[in-house]
Amino acid sequence: MNKIVIGSDHAGFETKAMLIELLEERGLEVIDCGCYGTESVNYPQYGIAVAEAVSTGKVERGILICGTGIGMSIVANKFDGVRATLCKDEFTANACREHNNSNILVLGARVTEPEMLKKITNIWLDTEFAGGRHQTRLDMITEVEKNR
Ligand code: RB5
Repeated sequence: MNKIVIGSDHAGFETKAMLIELLEERGLEVIDCGCYGTESVNYPQYGIAVAEAVSTGKVERGILICGTGIGMSIVANKFDGVRATLCKDEFTANACREHNNSNILVLGARVTEPEMLKKITNIWLDTEFAGGRHQTRLDMITEVEKNR
């Protein structure tokens, strides 16, 4: 992966700036879907932009940030093929990649400390999907998408 898409609302704006720096330091090309300041905006707009990019295959993986991470999770998981996972610690950052093949990391800027947000992001970027029985379970979710 050499490219990643990122988006946030106003509550996640500063975290987004911090993470863009981290991602660029790691050599990734970052597509920033906004928002672009701390003025109040509506999180679905940015969640949709990032989830659409991942769902259509334009970009393999993305990051979304809002105050709690909950609104962004709800909107992103409406899109086929998106597995958006809200992470608050190192354990969930690892497990969502190994078990769930997370393709969108969701973070809550108002509930998780900046240092932990960086740790979570690095773990999420570095951890591979384990496949096997976990793939069977993801296939069951894909079937739900196909049949609705
Ligand atoms: C914005 O005030 C807040 O509602 C939003 O950032 C997020 O937490 C929604 O789930």
